[in-house]
Amino acid sequence: MCSVVGYVGKNQSKAFVLEGLTRLEYRGYDSAGFACISPESNRLACVKSQGQLQNLLAKCKQMPVDGHLGIGHTRWSTHGAATEANAHPHFDCQKSISVVHNGIIENHHELREALKKAGHIFVSDTDTEVIAHSLEAVLPIHKRIKPAMVELVNKLEGAYAFVAIMQSFPDQMIAVRKRSPLCIGIGRDELFVASDPLAFAGRTKKVIYVPDEAFVIMKAAPRHVSDSQKSPLELALSSSETANLELYSFSGTLLKPDIQELDVDWTDTEKRGHEHFMLKEIYEQKGAIASTVKYYQQLGNNLYKQMELSKEQLKDLKSIKMVGCGTSWHAARIAQFFFEEIAKVPTSIHLASEFRYMPFFNYENSLYIAISQSGETADTLEVVRMINDKECTTVALTNVPSSTMVREANGFLLTHAGPEIAVASTKAFSTQVTVLFWLAHRIALDKGLITMRQLQVAEEDLLIAAEVLENTIDTYRKEISATLAKKYAQFNRAIFLGRHISYPFALEAALKLKEISYIFAQGYPAGELKHGPIALVDSLTPVFLFSSLDPMIYQKLVANAQEVKARKGHIIAFAFEGQKELISLADCVFMIPKVHPLLGPLAMTGLMQFLSYAIAKELGCAIDKPRNLAKSVTVE
Ligand code: M6R
Repeated sequence: MCSVVGYVGKNQSKAFVLEGLTRLEYRGYDSAGFACISPESNRLACVKSQGQLQNLLAKCKQMPVDGHLGIGHTRWSTHGAATEANAHPHFDCQKSISVVHNGIIENHHELREALKKAGHIFVSDTDTEVIAHSLEAVLPIHKRIKPAMVELVNKLEGAYAFVAIMQSFPDQMIAVRKRSPLCIGIGRDELFVASDPLAFAGRTKKVIYVPDEAFVIMKAAPRHVSDSQKSPLELALSSSETANLELYSFSGTLLKPDIQELDVDWTDTEKRGHEHFMLKEIYEQKGAIASTVKYYQQLGNNLYKQMELSKEQLKDLKSIKMVGCGTSWHAARIAQFFFEEIAKVPTSIHLASEFRYMPFFNYENSLYIAISQSGETADTLEVVRMINDKECTTVALTNVPSSTMVREANGFLLTHAGPEIAVASTKAFSTQVTVLFWLAHRIALDKGLITMRQLQVAEEDLLIAAEVLENTIDTYRKEISATLAKKYAQFNRAIFLGRHISYPFALEAALKLKEISYIFAQGYPAGELKHGPIALVDSLTPVFLFSSLDPMIYQKLVANAQEVKARKGHIIAFAFEGQKELISLADCVFMIPKVHPLLGPLAMTGLMQFLSYAIAKELGCAIDKPRNLAKSVTVE
């Protein structure tokens, strides 16, 4: 969470920094700021504002100051409330050093106390401010940036990425990375730095992903030297790019930067006539599922290459373990049924934030799949690092090919959902389910459990479910918008029930409703109702019930619905066509055409998301950027 953006080069920095922040606002939006070194006065100038980025953009219009070195930030608060005082950039006492930061300085309290004792005056509650004051303390001792940075980074504990500019070095910018993402784009006589390359996509095709525990000193002016005097970095660049930067490890060793081709585009980010990104993304699911299926159909043996596993290894898997957070964890829980029922591989699912603190058992032939839309979620990323250290196989399933998780896991799988902008995950979820359903079949094929034709049928089943996903929204859209959203927006709480594969789906549905409408929604396994939660059933607490296509599970769900009705509960059922008993018990029914039994949740996905969307809209909520949230959660 939080994004840092910086520019150093021949042009003025503000336009790029503000545009970069706009692209990365998904990472946090409770306050924002911009600082630059004014070329006229050689002094730092800064604008900050509370609230969404548009407030900063408006303020910046009033402030004409700009400079060749500039840094910016959008914040998702960890230390200190979302006030203007806590907004980044932060400064030292003399206001001569300015810092933007993503991550957490874990020992900020001790550092702050020591700095205060030495006379430093703090003006914010943030952990970031200790970076500026610490730099203020070490710079005069060393006089040069490199040794000062070596001392500084060795004082800081935690996971962080920060960018700093200093009046005493008005043509240099420092970028530092420890575990949090940070990358540098190389343009012609200009360098861009950001938490995500999306910030500079379209401006350059050359990127350096800053290695872990490293810092970079970037300089404004290009070096004009002959070929024989060029550094390896300069030689690796074409005539349209120049880079004047030095990369160092935390111990101060000069490192050779690894320049990579940037494969990220900044397109497809308009709402295309939809009122919200979430609505646009709900409607993109059918196409995203189809592109994902097509991609895997054409992948052939490259699948093994991408996963860094041989066919034999995949065939001989003794267990699969999946980790993720939020919606990605729900997708994993749904997929557990795919791997166990189709591929016959025992599978367990773990919340990334819990997994790291549990005892680790190193079983033979286990595959660890880390699921993450962004590929940047700190909890999940830390699990990948931990499992890599145990020398077990990790595969990242993400939507962002340039993400840290893709680079750090042994192998990767991609969802082809396109950029997901709304904080509430929609098309990432449905494409994760798609990839995992396909992979379960592919493993089953390699194990000789199914034929090639059965794999093709599975691919067709996915396309059918995608069709149903969209058609059901269209069937009910009018009724939901005209009456149902109004009705269900009046309740303060709701219960979501499912059983077997529809239970994790109920959890996802409850998450969707609560994160965008702020209505308290609790998902339960339907069979657990009688063990306690049934005490909550009353006429003021609607019960959403998600059916199953498995005849036995369906019968049990009907019994659970009866228990609710017997207590005057109000049932909103997502039932499959022909499920008469359930339909007759429900107060409100959404009828879903039949699909492959394990794809029931996928078929219901669009309607479930649209209903939450419509309720949140009715309540006037900030749908694309719900309060307190951020799209990418890069702190643990
Ligand atoms: O990028 P990730 O998939 O790793 O993100 C995990 C969760 O933070 C995310 O799914 C979150 O729960 C969404 N806001 C849910 O809509």
